[in-house]
Amino acid sequence: MSSLRLKFVNHSIENDHLTVVTRDEVCGVTVALHYRGWAGLPLLSRWLTVKNDGNGTVTLERMKSAAWHLPGGRNWRLTHLAGRWGCEYQRNRTLLGPAPVVLRNTRLTCAAAQQVPFFALDEEGSAAEEDGDVFFGALHWSGDFEISLEQPSGGPVSVTGGIGSFDTEWPLKPGESFETPHFTAGLSRGGFGGMSAILYDWQLDHLLPRGKSAPRPVIYNSWYPFEFNVTEEKCLDLLPLCADLGVELFVIDDGWMPGRVSDKKGLGDWTADPERFPRGLGAVAKACHDRGMQFGLWVEPEMVNEDSALYRAHPDWVIRDPARPPTTQRNQLILNLARDDVRDWAIAWLDRLIDDTPLDYLKWDMNRYVTEAAWPDAPDGMKRTLSVRYIENLYAILRHLNEKHPGVLFENCASGGGRADFGMAPFTDRINRSDNADPVDLMTIHEGFTMLFPPRVCGGAGNIAPSPHPIHGRETPLKFRLIWGMTGSMSIGIDPKKASEAELSKIREAVGEYKRLRADLQDAYVIRVASAAEHPYALFQYLRRDRKAFTLFAFAHGMRQQDLPLPRLRMRGLIPEKVYRCEDGRTMTGEALMDIGVTVGLEADCGAKMDVWRAEEEQ
Ligand code: DGJ
Repeated sequence: MSSLRLKFVNHSIENDHLTVVTRDEVCGVTVALHYRGWAGLPLLSRWLTVKNDGNGTVTLERMKSAAWHLPGGRNWRLTHLAGRWGCEYQRNRTLLGPAPVVLRNTRLTCAAAQQVPFFALDEEGSAAEEDGDVFFGALHWSGDFEISLEQPSGGPVSVTGGIGSFDTEWPLKPGESFETPHFTAGLSRGGFGGMSAILYDWQLDHLLPRGKSAPRPVIYNSWYPFEFNVTEEKCLDLLPLCADLGVELFVIDDGWMPGRVSDKKGLGDWTADPERFPRGLGAVAKACHDRGMQFGLWVEPEMVNEDSALYRAHPDWVIRDPARPPTTQRNQLILNLARDDVRDWAIAWLDRLIDDTPLDYLKWDMNRYVTEAAWPDAPDGMKRTLSVRYIENLYAILRHLNEKHPGVLFENCASGGGRADFGMAPFTDRINRSDNADPVDLMTIHEGFTMLFPPRVCGGAGNIAPSPHPIHGRETPLKFRLIWGMTGSMSIGIDPKKASEAELSKIREAVGEYKRLRADLQDAYVIRVASAAEHPYALFQYLRRDRKAFTLFAFAHGMRQQDLPLPRLRMRGLIPEKVYRCEDGRTMTGEALMDIGVTVGLEADCGAKMDVWRAEEEQ
């Protein structure tokens, strides 16, 4: 039988959580519909618990969390964020028509680089950055998902979202329950900028593990200078230079495990290479701590190289189709995290690593997706639960690490942006936004990213990029790159050993400036005043949450004489009667800044500018 007719049984309300219990008496399935509000924010989360109260096994073939309905008789425009490695979160727009639109991922381990599990709808493009109604929603899920948008015959639109159905089902034995991921939706009456502000408030006040506590440290990560050739000696040699620049957290990236001098070997063997780290990682950790710096480490717990002790000991732990030779990407195979013994193994060595080193920061990377989803030795009936159990166990590990090590910061890397989603948000403090920190490419990447995520979480191995940029060799001025570093959680990707004295002094100055301003910047609302998708420049207004200060970031690329001078740009969200003073001496009321706007002297190609404005009493 595949039909279900649910009837109301009862309801309960506990604080902001409404539960409506429904039941199908014929097949004995009880479905609890959960609705959760968020302390006055215009957001509602919805999820289901399905329970088998009958006598036989019930198989769930679709595991959706909610269907949101919007009025018909209107033309709705969909905005979504899609891309690929190195150009994530590109804003895409399309009008809904009679054909359904499905935002989907079938990669199993991650979604967001290709398609963020998020949608936004406005009426025929009527909403702008600062005004108009925007209906939006996001799934709290990092694996296979589907959000389908349908408007049959111009009637109401339904937006149905949840776990992806590709090759997936969940058998429920009598007495068992299944809970879907949460799907949170909301309404902004203040356009896309208003939507971002709601999502930031939600994350900072409710979702993020360490919310808006402590300022984000300035990071130096070993990946840019050394890649896989990292050694204790090189790290110790670099530390004084990093300290001199004002770095507060030093991170050893990939390459610290035995034999890991390229991506061919070592994944899975989570001990320090005795040749390159003869005294263990503790020696570098101690050197950092002695200087008052924090110490962090890169790991990729879900992956294994065939050339590793782990694979030799547990060849059955990887996801592969036994009928074919395994497929590798970046020479790695994927551990089957759906297995509870793999989950428990990961928890054990991660706990040890964090405590013994000791670590202040853990960068969790994940660099491939599944190509042959198979779990031949799965427990009875569980073969096709792989994609769901994988992500559930990923969350179980991260939940454990957060509870056990509340003082440690966790980075959600996933190859740069692969898991920029709200399933990961409760467990991670920082997202590697993209492996691409080229300041020109960032103009649109940052626009998409900040639609959903606040500056506090916006990171990367080095968001002050080297030049020429390793991805495509583009050369850009240092000032352009330094100002980009201010817009998120600052990390330096320039090798201080190769930089000139003049460059080092500019980096030092930028780090000092960031420290002076970060309390204003890291939790600010980001308003995309002008988009690089429409102009040869991008302007971001970082508005402090109390609206008494804002910083204007401007970046230009490919400006022509015809584009100059820039129009006066209207600021948003200020307190009209307050007088704001720019650090360059200009003063204007909030009303004038919003009605008349400000001029931005941005002339050169690859020009960058940062203007800090504060209400007079804040000076
Ligand atoms: C991909 C990440 O995005 C990079 O920052 C770096 O950590 C490499 N992996 C290391 O293999």
